[in-house]
Amino acid sequence: MPKKIDKDLHKIRVLVKDYLLKKNGVPKPKTVGVGWPSFDEKEIMGAFDCLINLRLSQGPRVKEFEQRYAKMMGKKYAVAVNSGSSANLLVLSSLMISGKLKRGDEVIIPASTFATVASPIIQLGLIPVYVDCDDKTWTISPTEVEKALSPKTKLIMPVHSIGNPADIVSIMSIARKHKLLVLEDCCEAHGASLNGRVVGSFGDIATISFFVAHNITTGEGGMIFTDDAELFDILTSIREFGRLPQHILNKGRFSYEDKVLGFYDTRYVFTRLGFNVRMTDIAASMGLEQIKKLDKLNRKRISIARDYSQTLKKYETHVSIPYTLPKGVHSYYGYCFVINPKAPFTRKEITETLEAAGIETRPFFGGCLPDQPGFRDEPKRVVGQLPVSRWLRDNAVFIGCHPALTKEHVKHVLKTLELFFTNIDLKTNKSRQ
Ligand SMILES: Cc1ncc(COP(=O)(O)O)c(C=O)c1O
Repeated sequence: MPKKIDKDLHKIRVLVKDYLLKKNGVPKPKTVGVGWPSFDEKEIMGAFDCLINLRLSQGPRVKEFEQRYAKMMGKKYAVAVNSGSSANLLVLSSLMISGKLKRGDEVIIPASTFATVASPIIQLGLIPVYVDCDDKTWTISPTEVEKALSPKTKLIMPVHSIGNPADIVSIMSIARKHKLLVLEDCCEAHGASLNGRVVGSFGDIATISFFVAHNITTGEGGMIFTDDAELFDILTSIREFGRLPQHILNKGRFSYEDKVLGFYDTRYVFTRLGFNVRMTDIAASMGLEQIKKLDKLNRKRISIARDYSQTLKKYETHVSIPYTLPKGVHSYYGYCFVINPKAPFTRKEITETLEAAGIETRPFFGGCLPDQPGFRDEPKRVVGQLPVSRWLRDNAVFIGCHPALTKEHVKHVLKTLELFFTNIDLKTNKSRQ
């Protein structure tokens, strides 16, 4: 019987593959979007297989996805969740439950990053300490981290922004010297590395996002990595309602005895306050196919980014281009360039030109988070004037460099940029004459 089902599934797979071939694959981006999933029949069949087998919630596919990704990250444990934001929220919650953090403790983060790096810190009664970014890598500056240390500092949360590895080696040495924990936010940095080590493998804990625009995707999704068995237990518990941790659930439904509840079904023993932020098997089955492709997809991103940089290098008086630390591998979640202070044009002018040509743009996400309306009046400590983060806030331009872009798309971007800068130079020279 199973053989028959497998044969039928194979037929469906062939049909889906043929269908996609006829359609020239999954839908392609019409314009140069900032992100686009790279799917084929394998992800579709993974999800389909879950649907026809009614594997609708968290189950064996999630477990397999966790085990595979933990291995890639060189960590003992992985906990899959429904987003990168949930991953950050769960990690900070688990650190508080374990007593490693308490209300009022300070968490050092880069000022320039995404909202849900800072918001769970504030939501849990911790204090974000915003420090500036390095002016070359645009990631958290170790020098600024050192300046930010106080007796209340307990955690440093570097972000490998846009796929560029932060100087995690220096951050780790500061953390070890001062006995601080490190949570690496790798939500934008799948497969990025430093000194041959993948980011996320340096710190005590790491998080990643599988949102649809990221290097690999499950639609929505996230994951947490750690070697800490106690945190793993707490994380698996608060991921689903505050249940008993997974290793006790695995012992069987009536393996738990309590002086009030007696022999109670383990699945309904709630040992702490929790959330429900589980990943579904449908999402995990797509992720299992995506991780097989990660290196290849990243190579394509790197190659497109190289083309962009080659062109933009000619205009380095006007714009700064990505810089990666020696022995670092940037995984280019997107391609960012930043307008230099004396450039004779504004970000509005260049983004309007790009957008009019069908080239989508984004800012450097939150820009400078303490300046955002939702964060201005929230508890915080700001270290220094944040000149780099504010320069990024006002001048960064993020464009797509994902594998769904064709050679024609890339040529179109390069031509549009060349034309923009040629016109700018012509205008500037004319006004000088
Ligand atoms: C640095 C960073 N952290 C966290 C997140 C949150 O991830 P998600 O969108 O999956 O919630 C993002 C989102 O892209 C991010 O860029």
